[in-house]
Amino acid sequence: MTLAFAQESFRDDYTFKNSPEAIRRFPLPFPQDSYMYSVNMEPHVPGPVGSVYEHAFDIDEHYVAECRDRAITLARDPGRCASLPHMIEAEWDTLELLMTSLAADYPEHFALLRDGNRWVWTNRPLGLRQDFIFGDASTLPQGPLEYITRQVQGDFVVLDQREGTLFADAAMVTSQADWSLTFDVGMSFHQWHAPVPLAHDMGVFDRALKYLMMLQQGRPVRRLNWTMTVNPRLDTSPETYPEWGTDRASVTPDNVGKKVHLRVELQTMFRLPRSNGMLFSIRCYLASLEELCTQPRWGARLHRVLGSLPAPLAEYKGLTRYLPTAVTWLSQFDDGRDLGPGT
Ligand code: HEM
Repeated sequence: MTLAFAQESFRDDYTFKNSPEAIRRFPLPFPQDSYMYSVNMEPHVPGPVGSVYEHAFDIDEHYVAECRDRAITLARDPGRCASLPHMIEAEWDTLELLMTSLAADYPEHFALLRDGNRWVWTNRPLGLRQDFIFGDASTLPQGPLEYITRQVQGDFVVLDQREGTLFADAAMVTSQADWSLTFDVGMSFHQWHAPVPLAHDMGVFDRALKYLMMLQQGRPVRRLNWTMTVNPRLDTSPETYPEWGTDRASVTPDNVGKKVHLRVELQTMFRLPRSNGMLFSIRCYLASLEELCTQPRWGARLHRVLGSLPAPLAEYKGLTRYLPTAVTWLSQFDDGRDLGPGT
């Protein structure tokens, strides 16, 4: 896809919108008419050209605006990036993985020159050039994790593997679906997943952890997760809840198509080479119901999935208040025809 970076906002006047191309490639996570949690992981292998799966880390038309929004959030709350002292090696692993991937996949936008430990990084869309010594944090303006993740779309959690589980010991989190890094940092896989309903009893987290513990370098995996957000807001954190929580009461039959956004997370997991840690990236895609319903079958699919969503999931995802309004609005796109499997 040819990238023209949009000038748009994810707060205040909310000028964010998707081009027709961005809507077409939106990763709708509903291959069936109903939804329930599962261990929905698959190898993160390159997908079709132009799809969100084409490259290891997807850069799209929202890149520059999302990096700006992250900078605003960090200026207000530097604690959105955190790293425990033993994670420095995994931070460098992360910087290396992101820089080498972006430079290889998007050579028109990013370049990396390496001469031993002397590296030069160029980021054209953000107008940055950095000479630094790989492994020497004093040669970067921020720590390695913060430096590179300020320049990549999506949130990032860097995990330490020990004691038979994974610990969320470092992260850059500015666009999360209502969970707090300050609260979760240092927690283990089962601890930070504790609030999720039903999935524990279904064995989803036991199986997912077992799978992840055996993840091999060079064989990343991915999964999709989703929720909904009123207004195209990236920073829906508990810390800023007073700024966005009441928006849920603003949804009406007249504005629901424009205001309510599906928020899909493309989550990818990479084994890191030196630290044996893991990089968990959470790439967030937003699209309004109105935008999604421009695609054949998607309105009907959404109508059926949201109309049959188990109540504990709707409650946990914070949808209860406006879900009936959304389902009623979506019914205009559903003539009851069999949609078959897939999106
Ligand atoms: C929710 C982090 C991997 C399934 C969450 C939450 C966090 C999180 C912070 C929100 C919990 C809350 O309400 O406070 C992570 C991290 C992972 C990871 C850092 C990296 C290892 C996985 C995997 C699965 C999974 C591999 C596979 C099944 C879920 C589910 C939810 C959830 C089903 C509920 C989402 C919703 O309904 O919106 N995760 N997760 N997670 N996670 Fe994970």
